[in-house]
Amino acid sequence: MSGSFSGTKILVTGGAGFIGSAFIRLALASEAPVRIVNLDKLTYAGNLENLEPVAGDARYRFVHGDICDAALVGSLFQEFSPDAAVHFAAESHVDRSILAPQPVFETNLRGTFTLLEAARAHGIGRFLHVSTDEVYGSIAAPLEADEKYPLRPSSPYSAAKAGSDLLALSYYTTYRLPVIVTRASNNYGPYQFPEKLIPLTISNAFEGLPLPVYGDGMQVRDWLYVEDHCRAIQSVLEKGRDGEIYNIGGNRSLANLEVVRQILQATAKSADLIQYVADRPGHDRRYSLSSAKTMRETGWRPQTVFEDGLRRTVDWYRANAGWVERVKSGEYQNYYARNYENREARLSRLGER
Ligand code: NAD
Ligand code: TYD
Repeated sequence: MSGSFSGTKILVTGGAGFIGSAFIRLALASEAPVRIVNLDKLTYAGNLENLEPVAGDARYRFVHGDICDAALVGSLFQEFSPDAAVHFAAESHVDRSILAPQPVFETNLRGTFTLLEAARAHGIGRFLHVSTDEVYGSIAAPLEADEKYPLRPSSPYSAAKAGSDLLALSYYTTYRLPVIVTRASNNYGPYQFPEKLIPLTISNAFEGLPLPVYGDGMQVRDWLYVEDHCRAIQSVLEKGRDGEIYNIGGNRSLANLEVVRQILQATAKSADLIQYVADRPGHDRRYSLSSAKTMRETGWRPQTVFEDGLRRTVDWYRANAGWVERVKSGEYQNYYARNYENREARLSRLGER
């Protein structure tokens, strides 16, 4: 199959996370005759609260399990016989991948391999592997990465994603498995775990806690509202071509400090909260993506202006303080201490600021 897809049974992996849950909520928002099985391990980042709006929908089923579990994955393919898989499940955070690379290797590489093998054994109409612009590594201005740009991943996270992209594409080349890879830029929006820059800054600002800025804060990211990303995935799923890569960018490049300043403004907090901390090792300076191919082939466009998306996001975190409090309890505190206390100590030792 190439060029169009209209299956209705979709296996989503990692659907209890930030982007996967947005994808499921969007897919079930209309009366479409779609059926979704969501396979998720519920790691620290997986949260069934994100799926409360669809939990009672007869078209939706949750399966608690690990994508590395070949027996489980095989039986799901056998029983559900999906028309398509949309593969979100991953260890998705660069800082955690630096602190502990093992789970990144397991899930992002071995888990992707396990899913590809099941798809090869059982057959599938489309296998959409969700990836990231971080596989291209840091990009010098004014260049933009298109889909042919060389892969130069810097972190264990992005290296594992690059490896899984290549593995997935090899299943198209070798076995003609109908694989598509999408590479999106930095997402933001409701339900994002407060370890990434935007939700961490919003949540700390509300609590009056320091806002950690790595290095000089002039690193550049291209920000994509999560619903724009999910609409792009839907478009690529329907209209993309097998064996192809599709970049999905928000077309809005901003330095981290500018993002933090906008959050301070939206939360009415003082810039005194900004705290410069030691830089992330191997920190990519700039990401920049060309989505021209995706726009040309699918007609998709990012619709959300960053200032509007950020306001909606801040409003969501304000209205959902209970969600934030629950995800920040327990394991989050350990992670925060491991990632940030060490950084502050290093900074004062180095006398960097
Ligand atoms: P997330 O960390 O919020 O969610 C990941 C989900 O995967 C969680 O529900 C978790 O429980 C699940 N999971 C992890 N390991 C699993 C395993 N072994 N088996 C089954 N489930 C498992 O991640 P996200 O931000 O929603 O990212 C989703 C995908 O999009 C990832 O593949 C990521 O690389 C990619 N991506 C993310 C961004 C971004 O800005 N967040 C940008 C581009 C691409
Ligand atoms: P992040 O949200 O972790 O996404 P990624 O590393 O995948 O781009 O980080 C976005 C940018 O913000 C990145 O340049 C690192 C920086 N950053 C901070 O300055 N402070 C923080 O506390 C975090 C989490 C990120």
